[in-house]
Amino acid sequence: MKKLLQIRASLFSEDGQSSRLSEQFVAGWRAAHPDGALTVRDLGADPVPHLTAQRFGALLAKPEERTAEQQEVADFSDALIEELRQADVIALGLPLYNFGVPSALKAYFDHIARAGVTFRYTEQGPVGLLTGKKVYVFAARGGRYAGTALDTQTGYVRDFLRFIGLGDVEFVYAEGLNMGEESRQSALTGAQAAIEQLVTPLRAAA
Ligand SMILES: Cc1cc2nc3c(=O)[nH]c(=O)nc-3n(C[C@H](O)[C@H](O)[C@H](O)COP(=O)(O)O)c2cc1C
Repeated sequence: MKKLLQIRASLFSEDGQSSRLSEQFVAGWRAAHPDGALTVRDLGADPVPHLTAQRFGALLAKPEERTAEQQEVADFSDALIEELRQADVIALGLPLYNFGVPSALKAYFDHIARAGVTFRYTEQGPVGLLTGKKVYVFAARGGRYAGTALDTQTGYVRDFLRFIGLGDVEFVYAEGLNMGEESRQSALTGAQAAIEQLVTPLRAAA
């Protein structure tokens, strides 16, 4: 059974534009995999706490030496990682906020980057351990930045995902959403068409 993990990073949860675009992909994926399993991780509705020194200490502590409080933090991080490990496909809704990723997504990233669990250091550099998955990113933006030096978000998200082993990543952009109605409509139509192109082959193969 194929498994899809949908991650929403919008402040507005399922109402965010990035969530809506990822939802279109999820609907197409489900049509292609009627017996597939979907897990939704909604970082807007159910935020991951900020990484603090205490929480980071809990993640670093040896399992046999953890306090009950530290164990709770480690269990929380383990559960987030297990969701990723189980997934064959990941659909990430990615808003652009103040030139970066939502802080909710950064907090999530901070809880899934675990030495010895999702990556390990080698003499050749770090090696990601969550391999063999496909990631689709649905990026919603008020302005237009893709392909310019101002788009630091795409590189950052790609680098982070590759670091934990998720190197097969495809972006769909809806840009210029806050640049007038015409720009918004054309961005949405373009992104919707791009998503349709992603799901059509999945349906055909089903
Ligand atoms: C707090 C906040 C900050 C934003 N910062 C930017 C920005 O730096 N650049 C930009 O192009 N759009 C910016 N926008 C517009 C969002 O990228 C746009 O509304 C997009 O739809 C957000 O995705 P969402 O609807 O899934 O939350 C911002 C929106 C919000 C709410």
